Amino acid sequence: MDIYYYNIFKRRFRLYLRNRIVWYFGHGLHASKRFSGRYETILWFTKSDSYIFNLDNVRVPAKYPGKRHYKGPNVGKPSGNPKGKNPSDVWEILVKDWEDCLWDIPNVKSNHPEKTEHPCQFPVELVERCVLALTHEGDYVFDPYAGVGSTLIAAIMHGRRAIASEKEQDYVAVARQRIASYFNGNLRLRPMGKPVHTPSGREKVAQVPSEWKTSESNDE
Ligand SMILES: C[S@@+](CC[C@H](N)C(=O)[O-])C[C@H]1O[C@@H](n2cnc3c(N)ncnc32)[C@H](O)[C@@H]1O
Repeated sequence: MDIYYYNIFKRRFRLYLRNRIVWYFGHGLHASKRFSGRYETILWFTKSDSYIFNLDNVRVPAKYPGKRHYKGPNVGKPSGNPKGKNPSDVWEILVKDWEDCLWDIPNVKSNHPEKTEHPCQFPVELVERCVLALTHEGDYVFDPYAGVGSTLIAAIMHGRRAIASEKEQDYVAVARQRIASYFNGNLRLRPMGKPVHTPSGREKVAQVPSEWKTSESNDE
């Protein structure tokens, strides 16, 4: 859908595109007449060249923090940043547990700590990264399509002021409840930065079913 919005924001509103962020899922529904969809996009536009980008708030652990410069004036010194690396424009947060819980395996839907009745609710963690990187404490965050209030919660959690609109009264009621639960200290949230589950290959679901193996490989 973002291909339609790009022209509206760029040509009509003269905004500047800073990033097209891909929120990537490893799992999801399997299409049979086209390639299966595995990502959603976030278009980050700014009004001018003067904008907020708090990279240090959202750095992620480097894969190889022990890497060192091998030439130049800093030879031998660590080449990374002790606060971590830039998370890049491909976000894999919640790759497995969000997908499995919400869309892929309906019977474990209620297992996700954040799940409500909303069919396309976003994880709060997804919004937290935007809020932390693109706003300062005390700023306003506005979500015109608020659903059950994930953006509001992410904003409030990090000391921002939140405004929203939502056309479905039932979702507004759930959003109010979730915000109240946050303030009461009992809102169920998946902690930001929780490592994404990577299958070891030993799990039953990661193995080729025995019925698919040839008799040759069965003999091994
Ligand atoms: C993708 S959902 C947002 C989900 C939200 N991010 C969350 O995590 O709960 C989009 C929401 O926009 C609402 N919506 C659609 N058109 C709207 C409109 N014209 N004004 C206000 N809300 C609208 C829908 O009811 C729906 O809940």
